[in-house]
Amino acid sequence: MSKTFQRTLITSALPYANGPVHIGHLAGVYIPADIYARYLRLKGEEVLFIGGSDEHGVPIALKAKAEGISPQEIVDRYHYIIKKSFEDFGITFDIYSRTTSAIHYKTASDFFRKLYDKGEFIEKTSEQYYDEEAKQFLADRYITGECPHCANKNAYGDQCEACGTSLTPLDLIDPKSAISGSVPVLKETKHWYLPLDKHEAWLKKWILEDHKEWKSNVYGQCKSWLDMGLQPRAVSRDLDWGIPIPVEGGEGKVLYVWFDAPIGYISNTIEHSPDDWEKWWKDESSRMIHFIGKDNIVFHCIVFPAMLKADGTYILPENVPANEFLNLEGDKISTSRNWAVWLHEYLEDFPEKQDVLRYVLTANAPETKDNDFTWKDFQARNNNELVAVFGNFVNRALVLTHKYFEGKVPARGALNDYDRATLDEFKRIRQDLEDCLNQFRFRDALKEAMNLARIGNKYLADTEPWKLAKTDMERTAAILNISLQIAANLAIAFEPFLPFSSEKLKRIINKKDLNWNGLGSIDLLGADHQLNQPELLFEKIEDEMIEKQIQKLQDTKKANNQNPN
Ligand code: 2FM
Ligand code: ZN
Repeated sequence: MSKTFQRTLITSALPYANGPVHIGHLAGVYIPADIYARYLRLKGEEVLFIGGSDEHGVPIALKAKAEGISPQEIVDRYHYIIKKSFEDFGITFDIYSRTTSAIHYKTASDFFRKLYDKGEFIEKTSEQYYDEEAKQFLADRYITGECPHCANKNAYGDQCEACGTSLTPLDLIDPKSAISGSVPVLKETKHWYLPLDKHEAWLKKWILEDHKEWKSNVYGQCKSWLDMGLQPRAVSRDLDWGIPIPVEGGEGKVLYVWFDAPIGYISNTIEHSPDDWEKWWKDESSRMIHFIGKDNIVFHCIVFPAMLKADGTYILPENVPANEFLNLEGDKISTSRNWAVWLHEYLEDFPEKQDVLRYVLTANAPETKDNDFTWKDFQARNNNELVAVFGNFVNRALVLTHKYFEGKVPARGALNDYDRATLDEFKRIRQDLEDCLNQFRFRDALKEAMNLARIGNKYLADTEPWKLAKTDMERTAAILNISLQIAANLAIAFEPFLPFSSEKLKRIINKKDLNWNGLGSIDLLGADHQLNQPELLFEKIEDEMIEKQIQKLQDTKKANNQNPN
């Protein structure tokens, strides 16, 4: 069934550069993508991990207008903040670029022109609302009016949030421009459309028959789109912020942001590997995996593949392991209501605790349904799992070795039945861990890694070498040898998930060169190998730290209630 591939291109959704990134971004997209990239690299596979900022689109143009500055200034501000947050959290992109780069303008523009020349678009003229004061056409979201179904006066041109009905701007009664407040007029405009209906047949076969292994949330969403029947989609917009339409009649129009953004994956590959970028995109022995959130499924499973197919020289994604959403303390994360844990703020309050957040967000990742982040759960997982199990085990093994063997790994000698039973259990974990990682089940994978620490912890608790040391040094040596081998295994198993702690653990055991192939071995540390001084891998998080975070959110809620918007 499964094809063998020579290399993996990992893409992660390009976040809009109109605000900083928060825990929802990290949990949904960037941590899973980074775990996967690190895992494949540890196995010695050829990987390219692409990231970047999505810098076009109407919200960025409007934010600039509201602040009286240029859209470029807006995206310059956030691009670097976002890039730094990702670096700080150890997201190992091979490149993190942006869609305002010169290379991207050329790549996206050439991509459009090729499809245009091949006759892959249709052109349509339609009437759209135009704001005569702001002198611009209005995106659906920027027209408000009365809902024809429930009479809500503040419905948007794409949807009424009161009754949930999907609308078009022409459905609204008494429409108003959200930009100037004036009454918009209808004006004719020409646009280019990608005729998705013409792609429907192959998309149906490719997804519904050939990719039944995709996650059920992804497969299900694709199926419902395909069952409804696909319609042509406009790929141009009347806007002055974006990549100009490079063909006749395109003056004053730009590429629709969702047309140019996924091409950003290609541009960033070209920027990273100008001489051999095509091997990642055009060679059947490469496989491409898109990491995204659920709101991006249709674009990555239907629209972008149709664009690639229309070009005709590209591979299609092999899998799109999209996640659901993460909520915060029971409410939807919202940038405009400041209901979020911002990554840069987290690091101010919890310096050097990147891995704690990586751990909690993976353990609680919204892989199959929306999930909730709570500060109490964050504290409990840190104190009861990272500190009490993983950290405690490693620390005991190290401290005892320093106490009885001057910090040198003691020779193992003979194993007894209990040792063998422990090792059998421990050896099974590698396969389970790999199965989970290969299936993008990162929560379960993390549980497996933690099980390894639990096995170690239980082994020490059951064998009590601190008691045996008084009477049986040979047995003490065997137990500590096994415990230290397990500790070295933990440095490998946790590396994709908790890279900072794994580095620290490698430093403590004085062993840098560990890779995935070593996982499951009990000969990672030779007899007499000198260990470094023990240091705590994790620290307890006290109640007051957590109360401070909860208070901060309550203050936000209070402020929001005073100024509802
Ligand atoms: O939803 C978003 O945040 C988009 N900026 C994602 C774009 S993904 C890709 F196509 F670039
Ligand atoms: Zn309504």
